[in-house]
Amino acid sequence: MNLFNLENKIILVTGACGVLGGGIAKYLLENKATVLILHYKETPLKSAVSELKKISEKVEGYLCNVVEEKSLKAVAEKIMTAYGKIDVLINAAGGNKPGATIGPDQSVFEVDVEQFKQVIDLNLFGSIIPSLVFGKEMAKHKKGTIINVSSMAADRALTRVMGYSASKAAVDNFTKWLAVELAQKYGDGMRVNAIAPGFFIGNQNRALLTNEDGSYSERGNTIIKNTPMNRFGDADELNGAIHYLCSNASKFVTGIVIPIDGGFSAFSGV
Ligand SMILES: NC(=O)c1ccc[n+]([C@@H]2O[C@H](COP(=O)([O-])OP(=O)(O)OC[C@H]3O[C@@H](n4cnc5c(N)ncnc54)[C@H](O)[C@@H]3O)[C@@H](O)[C@H]2O)c1
Repeated sequence: MNLFNLENKIILVTGACGVLGGGIAKYLLENKATVLILHYKETPLKSAVSELKKISEKVEGYLCNVVEEKSLKAVAEKIMTAYGKIDVLINAAGGNKPGATIGPDQSVFEVDVEQFKQVIDLNLFGSIIPSLVFGKEMAKHKKGTIINVSSMAADRALTRVMGYSASKAAVDNFTKWLAVELAQKYGDGMRVNAIAPGFFIGNQNRALLTNEDGSYSERGNTIIKNTPMNRFGDADELNGAIHYLCSNASKFVTGIVIPIDGGFSAFSGV
């Protein structure tokens, strides 16, 4: 038996128009899964689908906002009618807001509380609401896997990114909480895990980690110094853990958060 077979799996990916979610969607298609990508803006969604179709025809796009329950429910209904099941949900939509980050010359007391709330909304509720809407469909068959995307900011204080860190810490807690709840109430076919990427240069953190000329910023260099592998990650380095968590290879694994961080979380800095 091939523990890693994804061939008959219906996998939903939010944030698939972004850097990490897009790379994951591509990898899953290459590995024969059916991949349904969810995004809240029509033009990027269409262009992501047509790019991904170059890899496999087994991809479809659905327009919806991860923080709007009504739009997610409408999509769940369409997916259930078309495919009859959801095997995996990957919550890769997420991000930060400039006002929820403390600028280099700002004090914590200047944080924009409204933007702080928006970051919590996107990262936490943007994982909770899809998990509840699509998880409900999985629970009907007592089978399904949810994968959240956490961050190194969840466990230890990373300076400046206050709102983002609080939201990702809550994602970790939600991952464990939901894993326990679903296994106890619906049995061992329902699993919830997370990956915690270290530092990957993407749209959200490019300005924090690099200078305009492409060299690393002071913060970028500090991160590299605290990463035993001495480099940033490549988006495709998430794929192994994602494949494992999607597949039967992780059948008895629930409630974990896997760091993919070049050793950042293991290192004391000394
Ligand atoms: N890049 C990194 O180094 C890094 C590290 C750790 C964790 N993460 C997390 O990984 C996830 C993906 O990050 P990324 O670097 O690919 O970011 P990204 O900005 O490239 O992708 C995020 C995607 O989510 C979409 N999105 C935002 N709001 C949405 C909404 N309301 N509904 C639907 N889609 C919405 C964005 O438009 C974007 O396409 C995020 O949760 C991020 O916090 C990233």
